Amino acid sequence: MIKIRVPATSANLGPGFDSLGLALDIWNEVKFEEADEMTYQVTGEGAEKLNQKPKNLLTNSFKRVYEICDKPMRGVNIQAYNNIPHSSGLGSSAAAIVAGIYGANELLTKPLDTNALVKLAAEIEGHPDNVAPALLGGLVVSTITESEVITRRYEIPELTILVVKPEVQWQTHTARSVLPNTVSRADAIFNIGRTALVIDALRNGDLDLLQKVMDDRIHQSYRLKHIPAGVAVYETAKQFGAAALSGAGPSIICFVSAENAEKAKEKLIDVFTKQGIPSRGLITQPSSLGGHKL
Ligand code: HSE
Repeated sequence: MIKIRVPATSANLGPGFDSLGLALDIWNEVKFEEADEMTYQVTGEGAEKLNQKPKNLLTNSFKRVYEICDKPMRGVNIQAYNNIPHSSGLGSSAAAIVAGIYGANELLTKPLDTNALVKLAAEIEGHPDNVAPALLGGLVVSTITESEVITRRYEIPELTILVVKPEVQWQTHTARSVLPNTVSRADAIFNIGRTALVIDALRNGDLDLLQKVMDDRIHQSYRLKHIPAGVAVYETAKQFGAAALSGAGPSIICFVSAENAEKAKEKLIDVFTKQGIPSRGLITQPSSLGGHKL
């Protein structure tokens, strides 16, 4: 029997669309036990909505490792306890993929190295920015070449992170479908310099710089206008710290000073409430650990 845990992640971090991701101190735990057939149970966040049959993102990712390694799979009992909210912009699907492939790789006594796990997870997810930090922890920059996913992982200092999640329906595929197919040179230039500076600001824990450079022109405005109260909450978050849409949304992530976190949380929830949207806030921090065995 093995037990692992996998962190939530926040992708993009403003301008770093599909390239930057940060592991957060919010965890799903999954237990794998060899058995005669495949069974799956889930408890915790979103359990009532999740497919409890042994055919879902986690179990499919688990099986994929056996196929790739050409190993017969007898069966396995998988028990998941979820803390990462679903459809929130906190990498719940990346966590499911990483849990599946990491668990299978451990049970098979590690035929795949970390690079192979990142590549496989990115193939399943379609982009690497959540799966890479879910596997590696910390702040991860990733890019896809013809033959590989190149990642660089950076330690970042302790920071206080507020995430506010509205209870609205907002799927990643919708969030991607509202984006334009092309961007202007001016908008590309706007994002390129800022992305490099976001990395520098996070590595140095420089909140003032982060607040100046976390803006984006290639995805956030197209998405925020479809998220109920999204623009108002994002604008309010910017008054408290460095704010961005977390991943594809709908959550807003805000890097704040520790003493401002509770006040910022109440205020952002209040902005959602005033527009009739229930929401909840989580105060967390970066995680230097990615998926690991317990
Ligand atoms: N980079 C992705 C996006 C993250 O913004 O669409 C969401 O999975």
